[in-house]
Order: sequence, then structure tokens, then C-alpha cells
Amino acid sequence: MITSEKTIELEDQYGAHNYHPLPVVLAKGEGVHVWDPEGNQYYDFLSAYSAVNQGHCHPKINKALTEQANTLSLTSRAFYNNVLGEYEKYVTEYFGFDKVLPMNTGAEGVETAIKICRKWAYEKKGIPEEQAQIIVLENNFHGRTTTVISFSNDPDARKNFGPYTPGFIKIPYNDTEALEEALQKPNVAGVLAEPIQGEAGVVVPDDDYIRKSAELCRKNNVLFIADEIQTGIARTGSLLAVCGDCTCQGHCEQQATYTKPDILILGKALSGGAYPVSAVLADDEIMEVIRPGQHGSTYGGNPLACKVAIAALEVVKDEKLAQNARKLGKIFRDEMQKLVEEFDLFVKVRGKGLLNAVVINDSPDSKTAWKFCVALKDNGLLAKPTHGNIIRFAPPLVMTEDQLMDCVEIIRKTVLEFDK
Ligand SMILES: Cc1ncc(COP(=O)(O)O)c(C=O)c1O
Repeated sequence: MITSEKTIELEDQYGAHNYHPLPVVLAKGEGVHVWDPEGNQYYDFLSAYSAVNQGHCHPKINKALTEQANTLSLTSRAFYNNVLGEYEKYVTEYFGFDKVLPMNTGAEGVETAIKICRKWAYEKKGIPEEQAQIIVLENNFHGRTTTVISFSNDPDARKNFGPYTPGFIKIPYNDTEALEEALQKPNVAGVLAEPIQGEAGVVVPDDDYIRKSAELCRKNNVLFIADEIQTGIARTGSLLAVCGDCTCQGHCEQQATYTKPDILILGKALSGGAYPVSAVLADDEIMEVIRPGQHGSTYGGNPLACKVAIAALEVVKDEKLAQNARKLGKIFRDEMQKLVEEFDLFVKVRGKGLLNAVVINDSPDSKTAWKFCVALKDNGLLAKPTHGNIIRFAPPLVMTEDQLMDCVEIIRKTVLEFDK
């Protein structure tokens, strides 16, 4: 096997430098663990940015993947394949929508939602052509495509990639008044929101912010679009973050806490990390604006993706991952809070379910969080800073309480040893 050192050299020489990985090479994964080529074992506390909620190489998902790979993997949508319909029925019933539009990556899902929203605005709401506006929120992260970075306010994501796509109004996150005001502007078609801003540093809004936002949208005949690519599929302790405190693991409009978005975007854990699968869900009244030839992707809805996604969603229900994320998340935050109180290094812990972050006591420009993550790696736990001084902790949701406490010990030991 190629050594870690050689792998890093190869990437450095032959790959575009569009990422800055932690200096660790992963060669194998199982459940909550990953191993480097030298055989060192680590707890994975990133889960491929919440794609591996079901744990690495889940046997049920891998069985679905390999069986379908040996049967039929791709036909394109020029023909019907005998799995897509089954998947469409499964996923729409699972999340409580009339229809799904299958895509591959998260950013594609977001692009799809934007297109659907704009078309709905022209054809159903009567907004004049080319005038539709979508309200987006400061510090958002919705992917890396040209349109999506057009409404980012991260200079790295944006600079020198213009000209940018017009048609977006940016307002502060977690500010209902700003939303109310922006909704009075002309030609507003939709509001695109992350229920918790993951990449921004796990920023959790006020309890009723999402519900109020959706209500305001409804009042103003504007579509509420939830990007649950990172927060969805049990990560935050309920099936979707918009489910609030409900752990029913399924669609339940009767729950007072559930805010049904007009358009729901899913990705990442929809396949449990086995394959790129994303999806946009909406009811007929909205989805019917898309007609043949107006949107698609060669790989979108392929039989391999469909089988993998069904298996991945079954695992979420069968193994009660939302309940586990909720229970372990509370324990984790309580334990991190103890470290905040005992040591200077941690300023704050925040999050929901098993999507959490710790703010490090240094400026966002400092290298402290990075160095701390390297120290964590040396002690057998992998996490990554986001926005300089924030460390996201998001392990696979199949973690046990014993394993979590083992991880808490690793973090505590690393804090004790750490020398800025
Ligand atoms: C909220 C959110 N939206 C969209 C994306 C983009 O997904 P992808 O990287 O699969 O394009 C991400 C990825 O981190 C995300 O967290």
C-alpha cells in the first residue's frame, strides 16, 4: 500500500490545490472509525461533512450498492429504469412530498431548487420574466457552482469568479424583521435557508426562526426552500432540522413543531456516503412547472443511486439514528460545556443533535484551531476547523455512548496537553 507520505506528495504534485486537508491519509473505514495506511485508527468526527451519518461502509448500504452494481448501474433518463419509480415512491412517502427530482451532488440540488422556484414564480405567481428575486441569508453555504457562489459572502468562495448571477437579495440570518422587510420588495419568489448554518460554524438560530420564516413566506406567496443537505437525515436529532423537536422519524404534519418547506433539498447522507445522491422534493403544484428537456443530469436517478438511497434511508429508521443523535448530542454538549468552564481554550459549545461546534479562544485568523485539530488527530480523533477558530464535531450517528465518552476523554486529554 502507498504510504501516507507518498499519497500526500502525489496529491500535492498532481492535484489542483482546491482543498487544505489535515495531514492524515485515510485508507479504510468501518462504522465510526477510519484507519490510515500505516494502520493507525481514528474516530471520524467529520463524517465527510455529514454524508456518512450511517457510518462508514454500512453493510446494508454496501449490499444494495454491490448487488445493483452487478445488475444495472446507469441507463440515463433516455429510458426508464426499473428502480427509479420504486425509489421515487419511497423517498416522497418518507419525507411527505408529492414528487422528487433526483440529482447527484448537493450544489446541483440547490441549483435545481433555484430553477424550480424561478419557473414557479413566472408561471404560477406571475412575476415578470427575468425579474424573480430569491432571498438568501448572510454567511450561507450552499455549494460551489457559479450561481451558488454568486450569493455567498465568503471572499475565498467568490473572489475572481465573477461575473455573478443576479437575482438574489441577501439579508442577515436569524433576523425575522429583516425577512419581513425583504419580503415587501418587488418580485420575491423564494427564500433559501439552512435551518442551521453548518459551514458558517454550526450557527443555530432562535427556536422559532425557521417556523416564522416559513409562515411569512406562506403569507406573502413566496416559496420557502430548506437546504437540509447537511442538517437533514437525522443529523440534528430529528429526521430533518425543520422537524424541530419531533423524533417520529417520518413525515408527521400533525406535529406542532414541523415546518414543511415548499421545496426540500437533500444530499450527502441520502446515500450514507456510498455514492453521490441528491434530491429536490416538492408538491405537485410546484414540481409540475418542470417539463421534459428543462432540467436533468445523465446520472440523476440512476438505479445504483436509487437502491443505495433506499437502503441508506432504511438504516436511518431501523437504527433510530435521529434518537441516537439527539441523546448523544446532549451528552456531548454537556461534556464540552464542562471543558468550557474548566479551561481557557474553549469559549463556547453550540449545536443540535450530533452537529456541534466548539469556539476556540483565539482570533479567526489564528492557527490555534488547526493546531488543536492536528493534536486531536495525534490522539486518534479527526475533526476540522471551519472559519478559523471554530471546530465542528459531527461523528457518524451510529456511535455508541461508550464510544462517545471515549472521544470526550480524547478531547479532554488533548486540551490538557495542548500548548498554543
Ligand atoms: C448546506 C449545504 N448545502 C449544499 C452543500 C453542497 O453540497 P455538495 O458539496 O455535495 O455540492 C453543502 C456541502 O457542504 C452544504 O453543507
